[in-house]
Amino acid sequence: MAERLILGQILAFDRDPFAGDPAGAARHETRGAVLVEGGTIRAVGPARALRAAHPGAVVEDMGDRLISPGFIDAHVHYAQTGIVASWGRRLIDWLQTYTFPEELGFADEGRAAGTAALYLDLALANGITSMATYGTVHATSVEAFFAAAARRGLRAWAGKTCMDRNAPAGLTDSADAAYAESKRLIAAWHGRGRLGYAITPRFAPTSTPAQLAALGTLWAEHPDCLVQSHLSEQTEELAWVARLFPAARDYLDAYEAAGLVGPGAVFGHAIHLTPRERARLAETGAAVAHCPTSNLFIGSGLCDVAGLAALGIPVGLGTDTGGGSSFSMLRTMAAAYEVGQLRGRALHPAELWWLATAGAARSLGAETRIGRLAPGIEADLVALDLASTPAIAQRAARAGDIWEALFPTIMMGDDRAIAAVWIAGERRR
Ligand code: GUN
Ligand code: ZN
Repeated sequence: MAERLILGQILAFDRDPFAGDPAGAARHETRGAVLVEGGTIRAVGPARALRAAHPGAVVEDMGDRLISPGFIDAHVHYAQTGIVASWGRRLIDWLQTYTFPEELGFADEGRAAGTAALYLDLALANGITSMATYGTVHATSVEAFFAAAARRGLRAWAGKTCMDRNAPAGLTDSADAAYAESKRLIAAWHGRGRLGYAITPRFAPTSTPAQLAALGTLWAEHPDCLVQSHLSEQTEELAWVARLFPAARDYLDAYEAAGLVGPGAVFGHAIHLTPRERARLAETGAAVAHCPTSNLFIGSGLCDVAGLAALGIPVGLGTDTGGGSSFSMLRTMAAAYEVGQLRGRALHPAELWWLATAGAARSLGAETRIGRLAPGIEADLVALDLASTPAIAQRAARAGDIWEALFPTIMMGDDRAIAAVWIAGERRR
């Protein structure tokens, strides 16, 4: 198979930047190269050395653009694309006013297919090459998404959103139907190409204990699937969970009692956690998707993502679109920085970049497949223009090192910074 060399600036992480000096977690090559063969990264290093060692490789020279792993969105609702940036509500009200009416429309297959294509085009334009998305209650919403992701060759996870209470009639299933339909979707799609299934109880308030238990049984039968749900996002929601699950020690316990907490479970938000919940997430190996634009937009609160990472909890970044207000992982990193500042902990650019790439991959149990520039990792890549607007360019021109050069793009960048995208080694944009 033909070898290809993609030349540009390279930033390759050797370790988790939360686990030590963040600036020392990655190697920077001002003139580097990524050797790609058959959809996989074969080597990463200085351009001169790799060109000499692989004289027959086809060269794609991206100049001084930064070659990075594609961004990974650890938590998104593709079906909410049409209601992004809806004004004036907090979580429960927002769900009832905007989200549930929108999701009712996904009974229509054409609507699901059209939105999946629209969403994936927006994601790719923003350099997002993998994602874990919620569907709606309708199995067709997941089938439409998987078909669209497969056409684009993406590594992606999705699941039918299960709800058997506290939602409109057209959006509810039952414990048995959630189990059976999810199981059928697993048989049809899980492990097909680059696709994976995520068992998806929406959140504790919209599932009975019986439905959560049925999905826990399903996970035990298919332990290589992900589980995704929401955890401790907004204070009104916490009070609701306490009323609905009087026997549970806390919010996480509602999931734990059903067998839904462990490695491969990824919980969105995780803001208002008790010490027990933090400890249990760490002990069980469950992951957290930090969704800062959403947490600011819906007014949920400030997640202690650095504190969770320090406990060893796998943490990744999620747009949570349409509760999140942007399709851009750059904008999402910027919001994570702002949330950190409000908590008194400025996240380093290395930490922000990690959350959007290798950290997100780890949170989805895919760290050996995606999210890093390293031999054997799938070649989902982006090339970033670190001077994509005049405002960014003039600031980046003063940078003393790569982190200073990167930070203006993190804080002010958008899809204009995404100069190229490769999926499994194929140039897609
Ligand atoms: N909690 C339950 N459902 C949702 C959702 O769709 N978005 C967000 N942000 N939180 C939720
Ligand atoms: Zn969400």
